[in-house]
Amino acid sequence: MPREIITLQTGQCGNQVGEVFWQQLCAEHGISADGILEPFAVEAAGDRKDVFFYQADDEHYIPRAILVDLEPRVINGIITGKYANLYNPENIYVAKDGGGAGNNWAHGYEQGSYLAETFYDMVDREADGSDSLEGFMLLHSIAGGTGSGLGSFFLEQLNDRYPKKLIQTYSVFPNSEKTSDVVVQPYNSLLSLKRLTQNADSVVVVDNGALDNIATNKLHIRTPTFVHTNQLVSTVMSTSTTTLRYPGYMNNDLVGLVASLIPTPKCHYLMTSYTPFVAQGVEASVRKTSVLDVMRRLLQSDNMMVKTAPTKQSCYISALNIIQGEADPTEVHKSLLRIRERRLAQFIPWGPASIQVALTQKSPYVQTAHKVSGLMLANHTSITTLFKRTLDQYTKLMHRKAYVDQYRKFPIFHDGLDEFESSKEVVIDLMNEYHACERSDYITSSLPNVPPSDSALFPGGGSYRGRLGD
Ligand code: GTP
Repeated sequence: MPREIITLQTGQCGNQVGEVFWQQLCAEHGISADGILEPFAVEAAGDRKDVFFYQADDEHYIPRAILVDLEPRVINGIITGKYANLYNPENIYVAKDGGGAGNNWAHGYEQGSYLAETFYDMVDREADGSDSLEGFMLLHSIAGGTGSGLGSFFLEQLNDRYPKKLIQTYSVFPNSEKTSDVVVQPYNSLLSLKRLTQNADSVVVVDNGALDNIATNKLHIRTPTFVHTNQLVSTVMSTSTTTLRYPGYMNNDLVGLVASLIPTPKCHYLMTSYTPFVAQGVEASVRKTSVLDVMRRLLQSDNMMVKTAPTKQSCYISALNIIQGEADPTEVHKSLLRIRERRLAQFIPWGPASIQVALTQKSPYVQTAHKVSGLMLANHTSITTLFKRTLDQYTKLMHRKAYVDQYRKFPIFHDGLDEFESSKEVVIDLMNEYHACERSDYITSSLPNVPPSDSALFPGGGSYRGRLGD
């Protein structure tokens, strides 16, 4: 039975990333730009197209995707481009006034309340069309107004309306070194982080700063654009869903995959690394791609899609390597031993200190030059670097009360700036939880009255009710 996933794309970033993601899925499953199965793609290829696509009456494959933006440019580009006939037009919404959210989270969030009925129509129709809906994937950036504000509103609504369905996001964090980026990004990011923490089950963090570094240093692209970075994001998204689309022995559903990476519900932010990188035909200079080389490189910070500053205490809470290509289990076993001997990865002191490995098929329709490639999905405590950076930048901006009048114009801030304060508290609490995870007494100290075997189910003092497994 398919375990369908509905994808929601909001704002410029969400829709641009989504566009590349769908192009990649079409290529991997042998689906043409018009949604028709290519003659070379055998109908019963053993893949699960139905996780992300459904078939219309005329057999066209249609993405289970909902595209929303408050300004028309990106979506107009999609619906007039090569893939114009791929999407279901009923699942596309562009605001009538078309002015965007002006990089203001509060504006995007307010628009959500006007859009709620339209949103429910689209989501409910897609959900009703699924046999066994597994969950939702939200693609957005947290720094602008639409992806962050409207995205936050959608997260809250989805959580209320579909409490038992998994919600995973691919959230693009801003490049902190780019001064040309959105000035109020710390406000928008902080307000989004509260919803990502409280309303999502899993957040795959994509850091534009790290993507730019990879494009420059690994792919030698002098001035990387979103065309390059979105290809990297799309590679991560497609690889992290291969176990769902090409079922094997394990990680065949998103709930299982996420549950193995997130032992404690609040700490649900995942980092990714990938090797070897490829962009627009440019290949990074990786000479040998044995399983050990790939697994070793996945642990190197310069292959990570998130720029962090690990401390001595920083450690992995969990890690999953998805290895594609010519890899056999003996090689994997040897590589794991070698990684352990060399102490290449430091794990939490209160859980299994091992990297999980999933060997998956590659699409037979997309050729690559490498024998083996890999993606790592990791839950690592150094992710707090990003939260601290956002908090520090927020504090500086808020100290001057810079631009707050722009936020006061919208209902959520009419009575004051409490929403900022409450978001700040959620993020501080989140950072504390990650730091607590680094201690060996994490489980016992968080639940002193519960025996250790039970307390593992409710870390964090039992005060937080995780959505997974509700
Ligand atoms: P409004 O423009 O206010 O309506 O909101 P929006 O959500 O459409 O804004 P946008 O998605 O442009 O968010 C701005 C942030 O997203 C900045 O940090 C940009 O660097 C980043 N961004 C925008 N487009 C892309 C993209 O295609 N790829 C990546 N990786 N980042 C993007």
